[in-house]
Amino acid sequence: MKNVLLLSLAVVAAVGLLLAAAATSPPALPQYTADNQMLRPENYRDWVFLSAGLGMSYSPQAGGHEMFTNVFVPQWAYQEFQKSGKWPDKSIFVVEERDSQTRGSINKVGHFQTDLMGMGVEVKDKSHFPEEWAYFNFGDGTKSARANPKEGCFNCHAAHAAVEHSFVQFYPTLKPVAKKFSTYNAQRENVDGAK
Ligand code: HEC
Repeated sequence: MKNVLLLSLAVVAAVGLLLAAAATSPPALPQYTADNQMLRPENYRDWVFLSAGLGMSYSPQAGGHEMFTNVFVPQWAYQEFQKSGKWPDKSIFVVEERDSQTRGSINKVGHFQTDLMGMGVEVKDKSHFPEEWAYFNFGDGTKSARANPKEGCFNCHAAHAAVEHSFVQFYPTLKPVAKKFSTYNAQRENVDGAK
């Protein structure tokens, strides 16, 4: 009788551990609906933070209100990149846009981050997309999104990113890794007519 009790306690404890593990580390792989819409990645704030930009713009007449961009990749994809300087299949990238503010609390100059304004997502997934890379936008309440047309996002990433489609030229901790594995296209750093 005592053994049965101990066994059931062990089972309860094991199930508890499994549930806890599932709650803290859902698989950071792209998920889709039946018609190939991507589901919004929910736990990206637990991923690796690559870098932030402030008011970055790709047209000369930038200006107006500057926003922050924060870039995240899942832990597992980051680890693979450390070993090879390449992104593994099923890598997900999130860039969130956050509003910026100067006046607030004790702050007088400089900028700090505030509300989420939007979110761009990129995936490398050859089983879902013939061209491997696909791009999505998620607003506040968007649960799933269809891939954007190539002109919207894909073409710029293909033409200007330093490692495959990712802008490693702007991610200071990944740049030395890509250089070490010779996967880094240094030409993409050039200011004029970057190729
Ligand atoms: C004109 C060029 C250009 C276009 C168009 C563009 N991007 Fe980007 N994207 C960039 C640059 C430059 C960065 C890196 C700097 C940063 O963090 O803002 C970047 C970073 C990203 C990242 C972080 C991972 C990475 O590849 O480095 C994601 C995700 C992303 N973009 C998604 C999108 C989506 C979704 C669209 C279309 C709605 C889009 N981008 C359109 C230039 C572009």
